[in-house]
Amino acid sequence: MNITFLGHSAFYLTDGDHRVLIDPFLTGNPVAPSTAGLTPADINPTHIALTHGHDDHIGDTIDIARRTDATVIAPYELANFIGEHGVTNLEPAGSGGTIATPFGSVSFVQAFHSSSTDGRYMGPACGIVVLMHDKVVYHAGDTALFSDMALIGELFKPHVAIVPIGDRFTMGPMHASKAVDLIKPSVCAIPCHYNTWPPITVDASQFKPTACKVEALKPGESLEL
Ligand code: NI
Ligand code: MN
Repeated sequence: MNITFLGHSAFYLTDGDHRVLIDPFLTGNPVAPSTAGLTPADINPTHIALTHGHDDHIGDTIDIARRTDATVIAPYELANFIGEHGVTNLEPAGSGGTIATPFGSVSFVQAFHSSSTDGRYMGPACGIVVLMHDKVVYHAGDTALFSDMALIGELFKPHVAIVPIGDRFTMGPMHASKAVDLIKPSVCAIPCHYNTWPPITVDASQFKPTACKVEALKPGESLEL
């Protein structure tokens, strides 16, 4: 599996045939890798998975889904909202649920955060666990630290944990370090949701879990798993 960081919380997980785009906030994202020639039009997902309904996570979902006919996998109320904008391939789900896909599955797990768009309730904020063949990636979404992250680690045995470290709206570096030590990913942790704007600018060197190594990808950079 190839994992590409697209800036902020956006990631692209591919095996070549199947291409899962998570939280594709690209247009208007000051750290999107457009300087590397990667624009929303260059991305052709088969699936788009959304953690929650904030603008910096829905991002370009509607435009990309309309163009590519990608299946949008999202919490129920958010999926309904996406469906009101001309997207027909939808897989609504809820926290705790797993959706079977051609490459494996996408599961929704708990996150401690809010989820709304223009004041409209968008269902629970979630984390997402992607199983692609034999590789498992846990994207924690926007969340506070919670001790049941250990249970998510135990149940899904992720190779990679993607965790927010930008503070203010999510965990900061110290809580995120503890989160990774609870999750215990077997390969690495990737920090996200930091240094996009001044309010979530942090000293990323303070993100230093002991359970695994840190792969701090720059927007546009990839990791082969
Ligand atoms: Ni959010
Ligand atoms: Mn966010």
